[in-house]
Amino acid sequence: MDGECMVTARRALVTGAASGIGRATARHFADEGADVVLTDIDAEEGEAAAAAIDDEAAGEIQFRALDVRDHDAVQTVFESVHEDGGLDVVVNNAGAVVSGDLVDTSVERRDHLVAVNLYGVWNGCRAAVPLMETMGEGAIVNVASTAGLRGRPGLATYAMTKAAVVNFTRAVAGEVGATGVRVNAVCPGTIETAMAARAFAASDDPEAARRRAVAAHPLDRLGRPEEVAAAIAFLCSEAASFITGVALPVDGGASAVLPGR
Ligand code: NAI
Repeated sequence: MDGECMVTARRALVTGAASGIGRATARHFADEGADVVLTDIDAEEGEAAAAAIDDEAAGEIQFRALDVRDHDAVQTVFESVHEDGGLDVVVNNAGAVVSGDLVDTSVERRDHLVAVNLYGVWNGCRAAVPLMETMGEGAIVNVASTAGLRGRPGLATYAMTKAAVVNFTRAVAGEVGATGVRVNAVCPGTIETAMAARAFAASDDPEAARRRAVAAHPLDRLGRPEEVAAAIAFLCSEAASFITGVALPVDGGASAVLPGR
């Protein structure tokens, strides 16, 4: 490794990169000089995010519209990115949250969450693994949640999808480790993004919901998207060359510490 530089992505693809954690991750890789392909279902916001990152980037920055629920489209975009110049890093970040108790959750909402959060990650790994295996290296990071590690009342369906992402990550890591491909997950706590803002706004008392969320984190604040991006970049870097199959909490201690005093 050169000096204190941690080598990360040479060419990275991030899903759900128009906003929040995905956007911060794309910027982090770009700041390290990588080529970055931002993808998102929201083409307008995605193009804008890519343009903003491109202004200050050394590497090549592109945007591709992509709905992670669409298996064939994921396959096509990943293959074309790989053909253009390789694919060293994939971050399966696109996600959706719908809160509400189980008894208030419709079949349509369930299917939507499973399609985006779980099938989206499956599609991304299914497309990335064979491409990386031919290169004999690669790093995949799936964005799960602390809700995938512990039960979260009011988020049972979301928690179901994120717990599945955690164990899917471990299983795939086991399948592909010998080929040089590493597969890890991050489990963010509550992070200051549009998703969190929408969740607070949907509650009866948004300020109280925010205070409760802060109190659930021993560091006594919410996380920033850049902090999750840094953890993702670490898992993709040479510094993490012997790390695979982990679900790394990035949560200010929330999953480690029970509420007490
Ligand atoms: P966000 O709402 O700011 O960004 C999510 C992005 O995903 C958006 O740009 C959206 O257009 C895109 N997206 C949604 N459905 C898509 C689809 N079908 N195909 C492609 N793109 C799609 O959300 P945030 O907070 O940045 O979330 C990113 C990931 O982090 C998600 O997987 C989320 O579940 C996870 N997460 C977020 C936490 C938080 O507190 N913000 C906590 C734990 C996990």
